[in-house]
Amino acid sequence: MTLTEPRPDVQLDVRYLSGTIGAEIAGLDVRNLDEATVAAVRQVWLERRVVFFRGQHLDPAEHLAFARLFGEPTEGHPVIPGVKDNPEVFEIDYTAAGELYATYGDVASYERGVSWHTDVTFVKRPPLGSILRAVVVPEFGGDTLFSDQVAAFKSLSPALQDFLRTLTAVHDGKRQFQGILDLVGEGTWEGETFTALEPVEHPVVRTHPETGEEVLFVNPGFTSRIKELTLNESDALLAYLHAHSVKPEHTVRHHWTAGDIGFWDNRSTQHAVSGDFGGQHRVIQRVTLRGDEPR
Ligand SMILES: [Fe+2]
Repeated sequence: MTLTEPRPDVQLDVRYLSGTIGAEIAGLDVRNLDEATVAAVRQVWLERRVVFFRGQHLDPAEHLAFARLFGEPTEGHPVIPGVKDNPEVFEIDYTAAGELYATYGDVASYERGVSWHTDVTFVKRPPLGSILRAVVVPEFGGDTLFSDQVAAFKSLSPALQDFLRTLTAVHDGKRQFQGILDLVGEGTWEGETFTALEPVEHPVVRTHPETGEEVLFVNPGFTSRIKELTLNESDALLAYLHAHSVKPEHTVRHHWTAGDIGFWDNRSTQHAVSGDFGGQHRVIQRVTLRGDEPR
């Protein structure tokens, strides 16, 4: 697939945020984007993997409308129900009342620090991208970090790259989400309902369907093992790949202000919230876009 042709008449105000990943796009109201501007934003997004728009203050319907400019929204989450009236919008609030959020909060807080992952890789077709809206932002902390999984793959030795191209990874959402699934009874993804989270397999190195780049597609949130290796070998290799992926030179970090939008390519990145906001209130809402089967 080829990238959209750049349009010289559309000039975006783009500020790069680190060596290979992240850009802030200023001067746009994301409620009003014409087709050429959407194409230009998509180009920057593909190149920089995550883009930020500050101070947009969208409501859930506007958030969804923005998402639809770039793809088809999925269910909010395979297991956690979406917000009232907008099931495609998934809210994360670790302090929300109720057993479901207490369970989710437990899962999130035992990994406080940074829990790196790529969204929903434990299904056959993980999301293409995610669009996050900062609703309530703590006074300090709570940044999100992103890693560039193309840069991570590129910086490995050719010998290791060759080996990784031969491998298959198992992705399993049970550890994080089976407890919540048991509480809610059943989950839904792409219109299909289920009561158990069956592990899925994805190539360790996938080819980005829009850019043709090779991506190191494993993450500590959901990748449980490498199929072709013994468990010890798999654990050691995954630990190395995880550490390598999130080296500072492969990452960018965003400090949220209420109203910000962050839009990442979920095929070529990992992300993690920094658990340094103590008990402060932090609410974000997310919409994910339908993706394809990693190949
Ligand atoms: Fe996430």
